[in-house]
Amino acid sequence: MIIPHPTQFARIPGHFTFDESTAVRASGDALGAARLLRTLLAPATGLPLRQSPTGTVVLVVDAMLGGLGDEGYGLTVGPDAVLLRAARPAGLLRGVQTIRQLLPAQALSARPVTGVPWRMPGVQITDVPRFGWRGAMLDVARHFQPVSFLRRFTDLLAFHKLNVLHLHLTDDQGWRMPVAAFPALTEVGGVRAGAVPHSGAYTAAELRGLVAYAAERGVTVVPEIEMPGHARAALAAYPGLGNVPGRALDVWTEWGVCDTVLGVHDEVLDFCRTVLGEVLDVFPSPYVHVGGDECPVTEWETSTAARRRAAELGLGAPRALHGWFLGQVGEFLLAQGRRPVCWAEDSGALPADFTVMPWRDSAHGLAAARRGHDVIMTPYRSTYLDYPQSADPAEPPGQAGGVVDLRAVHGAGAAPADWEPAAAARVLGTQAQLWTEYVSTPAHAEYLAFPRLAALADRAWNPASDWSADFSPALRLHEARLDALRVPRRSPAPTTTLR
Ligand code: ACM
Repeated sequence: MIIPHPTQFARIPGHFTFDESTAVRASGDALGAARLLRTLLAPATGLPLRQSPTGTVVLVVDAMLGGLGDEGYGLTVGPDAVLLRAARPAGLLRGVQTIRQLLPAQALSARPVTGVPWRMPGVQITDVPRFGWRGAMLDVARHFQPVSFLRRFTDLLAFHKLNVLHLHLTDDQGWRMPVAAFPALTEVGGVRAGAVPHSGAYTAAELRGLVAYAAERGVTVVPEIEMPGHARAALAAYPGLGNVPGRALDVWTEWGVCDTVLGVHDEVLDFCRTVLGEVLDVFPSPYVHVGGDECPVTEWETSTAARRRAAELGLGAPRALHGWFLGQVGEFLLAQGRRPVCWAEDSGALPADFTVMPWRDSAHGLAAARRGHDVIMTPYRSTYLDYPQSADPAEPPGQAGGVVDLRAVHGAGAAPADWEPAAAARVLGTQAQLWTEYVSTPAHAEYLAFPRLAALADRAWNPASDWSADFSPALRLHEARLDALRVPRRSPAPTTTLR
């Protein structure tokens, strides 16, 4: 009754009990997992889990176990020993999370627990994820979230064997990414006025610390810097980046799609390359997201400079500047050895080499896959956690327009069954989105995230997991785990929002 549902699981006789004398045997590439096991079990159990060459909890990285891939693991729990093996260190990190779920839920407590035998059932598990991208996006632009919460959220992702934390760091309503070359991005762009003033930005040291913390848990932090739309906070800081010379703009105090977008002159591309250069310095992720969604082209259509640029480039209509713009920043990222990612919201062409996230309709993902793009499935009807999880009037106010319930999240899976194999092979995985227009506190974010994120993790890891036979019974046990982790299960008080 593990979530995500292991790909092969058998109960075998006996139990293994952790106690004061239990020691861990690990060396070389397995040391990180040994450290993580100790770190995660210490708060509740207080067990020292000393390292010893004769330890009975044995962690091994063996490249010969190639069938386990990058993140698979084998776990045998018997009465006298625990053997956790993987081909790569990340596989051991996933196995450590399984050990946590095999223990009594109290092992997950942040406070010492006494009088509980730390006993695991005998099991034989071979567990390999189907998809390599199993993520969650957190919007820290609309409502800034403290780095302490980002660490906790990372722990919750890792607990569900999710491996990507996508941080939406900039938007019309706030810029949270520090950029030394352009300090006003956070000093001006990080501060929102209006009826409910709001501000916040990270330091580079905080973000580097988060990246390291996440890496210890096998989670990659993927940064997103929005362009050329959703950039009003940057325009408030540096109006010269816009399409109307001499215009002063505020950090936007409304939700929705803002007409003001970046200009297309050389200084803007230089700005984007400088910003991304600093982003690459902080985030080692192979993938970097540059937004690309909801970019109205009205300003380009009415700007003489933008129209001239489109003509010079032989693009025809100014709306074609969108793909050109993304292509320019994509080339920069590729030259730096990174892979560009953007949102896809229709079936139109996007620059080659982009990995795309279709958010409106999975059919747009199919169109992109057929054109040769890698795809991460993010359709809003099954992956947007800012929609209420039920129609219960007690749900806190959320995104209008429907309910995304647990069953919808679990039912979607990643690659739709009716795609042809060549297109399905382009699907890297799936990801949940937690936009925060209506979410200003960590408690509210966690309330919305769980248990829906557990459902997404389940199917992304193991598409064969069945709602009735596997996930639903496992969730009943899992709820005790979420309680031990103090994930809020009751609707939080409504938070104040903009209009
Ligand atoms: C999006 O929801 N605008 C990606």
